[in-house]
Formats: sequence, C-alpha cells, structure tokens
Amino acid sequence: MQIRPLNTPAQVTAAAALAHRSHEGLRRRLTYLPQREPDRYVDRLEWLADHGRLLGLYAHDRLAAFLGGFVLPDFRHNGPGAFCPDWAHGATADDPQATWEYRVLYRELAAHWLGEGVRIHAAAAYVTDDAAREALTLTGFGRIMVDAARSQTDLGAQLGHLDRVGARRATAGDAQALAQLEQHLVAHLAGSPVFFCHPEGRDAAAWSAWLVQPDARAWVVPAAGTIAGYIKAQAPQLDVSDAVHGPATLAINGLVVRPDARRQGLARHLLAALVNGAAEEQFTLVSVDCETANLEAWGFWTRWFEPLAYGYERRV
Ligand SMILES: CC(C)(COP(=O)(O)OP(=O)(O)OC[C@H]1O[C@@H](n2cnc3c(N)ncnc32)[C@H](O)[C@@H]1OP(=O)(O)O)[C@@H](O)C(=O)NCCC(=O)NCCS
Repeated sequence: MQIRPLNTPAQVTAAAALAHRSHEGLRRRLTYLPQREPDRYVDRLEWLADHGRLLGLYAHDRLAAFLGGFVLPDFRHNGPGAFCPDWAHGATADDPQATWEYRVLYRELAAHWLGEGVRIHAAAAYVTDDAAREALTLTGFGRIMVDAARSQTDLGAQLGHLDRVGARRATAGDAQALAQLEQHLVAHLAGSPVFFCHPEGRDAAAWSAWLVQPDARAWVVPAAGTIAGYIKAQAPQLDVSDAVHGPATLAINGLVVRPDARRQGLARHLLAALVNGAAEEQFTLVSVDCETANLEAWGFWTRWFEPLAYGYERRV
C-alpha cells in the first residue's frame, strides 16, 4: 500500500470513477436524485487537487481509495476548518479494507492540516457510504448536519393541499416582519443544544434584496397584521450536498414558526404551499439541510424528507 498525491489527469480520472461509483450507490437507493456523469467529478477533483489536497491509496499500482479536502477560512464561524465533501472520497467496489483505507488517508491529511493550524476537520458522506461513515465515527467524528430530499410528486402527495392557515407568497412588504421572525431562528440556533456560533439574521434591507432574486421563493402565514411563520427556498447553494444540485431542484434553506404558534401545523402548511408551488414551476426535487442537534428541525424534516448525506465534524 502506498499513499500518493493525485494530480495527473489519469490519477484524477481514476478517482472520479470511484466518486461516481459512490454516487451511483446513493442513486440506487434514492432514485429521484439527478443523474451524474464521471466528468462532473473530474472537474471537481481537479479543482480540489489545485486548491486543497487530494490523496490516493494504491495497492499494486491500482487506486484502491482516495480522500481529499480543502480549508475554509471560517468554518461555521469557528475559524479555519478543513472539509472533505461527499464527492471527495471513494473506494473500489466491495473493498473489505475501505474503512481502514479511508482512516489511513485521513491520518495523512489530518497531520498536514494540523501542521497548518487547522484544528476543525469536517467531512460529508452519503447515507449509503457505510465504509466512509464507519471510518469517520471510528476516528472521532460526530454528525452535525443532514442533507435530505424528496421527489416533489411524493412529497406533494403526502402533504396534500392544505389551506387552513392562508399561506401566501411573501412580498417586499413582508421584509420587516421576516427580519423580526428570523430573530427567533437566530435565538434558537444560538441556544442549547445547537450552540451555533454567532448565527446571523438578515435585516429588512437584506430580506428585500433576497426576495427579488430570481430563484428566491418564500411563503408566509399571515397573522393579525404580521406573520406567524415563513419558509424560504432557492437554487441549491454551495453549502448543500452536490448530489441535489440541478436546475429542477428547489432547496429549502429557512423555516421558522413563532414560538407561541408551534405544533399547530403551520410549518406543515408552509411546506405544502411551497411544494405545491414548486410543481407549478416544474421543480421535480425538493431538498433541505439542517443541524442534527436542532431537535425541532430534525423532528419536522425527517417526517417528510429522506436523508441523503450527513455532515461530520471533529476538533483536534
Ligand atoms: C421546526 C418548526 C418550524 C416546526 O414548526 P411547527 O409549526 O411547530 O410544526 P408543525 O406543527 O407543522 O409540525 C408538523 C410535524 O412536524 C413534526 N414536528 C414538529 N415539531 C416537532 C418537534 N418539536 N419535535 C418533534 N417533531 C416535531 C411532527 O411530526 C409534527 O406533526 P404532529 O404535530 O402531528 O406530531 C418550529 O419548531 C420552529 O420554528 N423551530 C425553530 C426554528 C427552526 O429550527 N427552524 C428550522 C431550521 S432548519
């Protein structure tokens, strides 16, 4: 066994085939996810070889497994953190040594990152990638994030058409109320047990700017001259698993119900309004991501969506 940096086109292409294989495993379980070609991973891994570190483990001159990551200057407001995305690792089919190989590769990367003063290490792995997930938990990583998705058709059928609360599309006139309501989310994320470091909300001006973006979608529940809840979504951003990215995906990235109005079905109504609206706009996939420590979010999202990838973190 030998560990080598991957940088030639042939090495990167071999790694991309393994990344593609891993994604195909995910798609066998979650068939509604967008299809991928190996070239997609060639592009990403070339970028990673240039901007981060990409290592391969060779057995008899054949690439058995690879692992790569890059450093983000401010990972979740906690300072520098190294991140290995879900497309940045792979192993050969039915490799009984895959867990061990990932751990050996991480040992190399971890030593390098620590040498650069990077003490937060994070990785994402598909729910179907048992070897990578076992390697992470055996090495002291814990789950912090979940990416989940559902086909619009299945989700719409499960939710049905709910209209008890009068949910409507948000307009520019809601910017102030949206900013106020978001403060409940900020407080929730800062508190126990999430303890998100310095969560930030948008002010009314930032909401106004967001609402006019072409891909922005937000729905609100009106309540006595203000709003009692909102849901927002847009095209998948960079912090969302690559496996859901695509023009037919609507990625939810915000949901709040006022504390005194919770457990009355408002969030369910908001989700139904968004999902039924998505159908009219030809979105076929709806995705969401949330902190695994957020009990309310976990309780809500896992009722409607299927996890596809978990984010892990370790501090060294
Ligand atoms: C998550 C949140 C939006 C849910 O809003 P809500 O209006 O209370 O949710 P609903 O009443 O529509 O709940 C629908 C279903 O979701 C699940 N659910 C909702 N809240 C839950 C909780 N606290 N624990 C477990 N399951 C929960 C239940 O299955 C519930 O159905 P049930 O009441 O029949 O059991 C709300 O708790 C909230 O604003 N939390 C703080 C902000 C936040 O964390 N947002 C998510 C960011 S990713």
